[in-house]
Amino acid sequence: MTNRFKKIVLPLIVSLIPSVAAVGQTPSLKDVYKDDFLIGVAMNRAQIDGKASVDIQIIKHQFDAISPENILKWEPVNPKPGVYNFGPVDRYVAFGQKNHMFILGHNLVWHKQVPKWIFLDKQGNLVNRNTLLQRMQKHIEKLVGRYKGRINAWDVVNEAIDEDGSLRNTKWLQIIGPDYIAKAFEFAHAADPDAELYYNDFNLDDPAKRNGVIRLVKKLQDEGIHVDGIGMQGHWNLHSPSLKNIDASIEAFSKLGVKVMITELDIGVLPAPPHKDDPPPSIRHSKDPAYNPYANGLPDSVKNALADRYSSLFKVVLKHKDVISRVTFWGLNDKETWKNDWPIINRKDYPLLFDRNNQPKKAFHQIIKIGQESN
Ligand code: GLA
Repeated sequence: MTNRFKKIVLPLIVSLIPSVAAVGQTPSLKDVYKDDFLIGVAMNRAQIDGKASVDIQIIKHQFDAISPENILKWEPVNPKPGVYNFGPVDRYVAFGQKNHMFILGHNLVWHKQVPKWIFLDKQGNLVNRNTLLQRMQKHIEKLVGRYKGRINAWDVVNEAIDEDGSLRNTKWLQIIGPDYIAKAFEFAHAADPDAELYYNDFNLDDPAKRNGVIRLVKKLQDEGIHVDGIGMQGHWNLHSPSLKNIDASIEAFSKLGVKVMITELDIGVLPAPPHKDDPPPSIRHSKDPAYNPYANGLPDSVKNALADRYSSLFKVVLKHKDVISRVTFWGLNDKETWKNDWPIINRKDYPLLFDRNNQPKKAFHQIIKIGQESN
């Protein structure tokens, strides 16, 4: 045995054994909810690259659906014309297939994490409708075609509706016009007729935005466009939105005859700054401790409030289990959640079911209990 092995590798292996054993003994969300809906998790790059062994054990034990947190967005997957980073995506898809999971592609058309070049010509001017449509079609054919029959479903269009229910004013809308959404769905359906195709957005509990999505999906359906489902992102907080509005949106979407999913669930416990969408740098970089009240740990009262919030939410979702096909958490544990840096950087948030040491939280146990009681 070399010294390096004795000093570094052996202690690491020994330290991992108890956590891995504990993972197997913890009840499993996917088993408890197997007759109701899929339970998903968004995977980060380290997990996809196989660099987080305890995370991976938990993911395999707890979840039967996966979403890619970033690797399939346009910018990371196709940063420059002709340059594709398929390595991580291939690993992600292989992981899902090996573990018999439902594999989501996220996402094809969005106004964020998209490289600037796709909207510009060689002189730096905005391209015309035809050029952008062709670029969109090529992108969709390349991705959906490559993973045809392996990626089960795609978030085809992400966040196209504004808060008042109108179409969001993005470059897609400005250059192509309102039918860019229908076109994206058409291209995706042509590239893999068996893949499920979704519209995905945030704040869909809000009545104005809910109605905007209903108008959009109805219009697509009237035009004969293939839409399988609506994803409600679920980046929520302890006290908002109201369960009543979430319930009403699930109900209203189900009347369109499509599947409904909670696609990016995390429940933040930190105070929201004013103008939380795209806050100015002064707020985004705030060091004011009032914005980071749980830097040294979460008090029991808030742990309980989070567990109660998750329980009530799961009761609402279970009520609609006939139309809810999947509930996906946006990340595995509190250490890696994007919420630690959004909308203010460098905070400690606690939105997920596993803590910073990958231990199941009270919220996890409550969700297991609600699922067991409902069977
Ligand atoms: C949106 C996107 C996700 C992710 C989150 C923030 O919800 O759909 O892919 O970027 O924002 O992490």
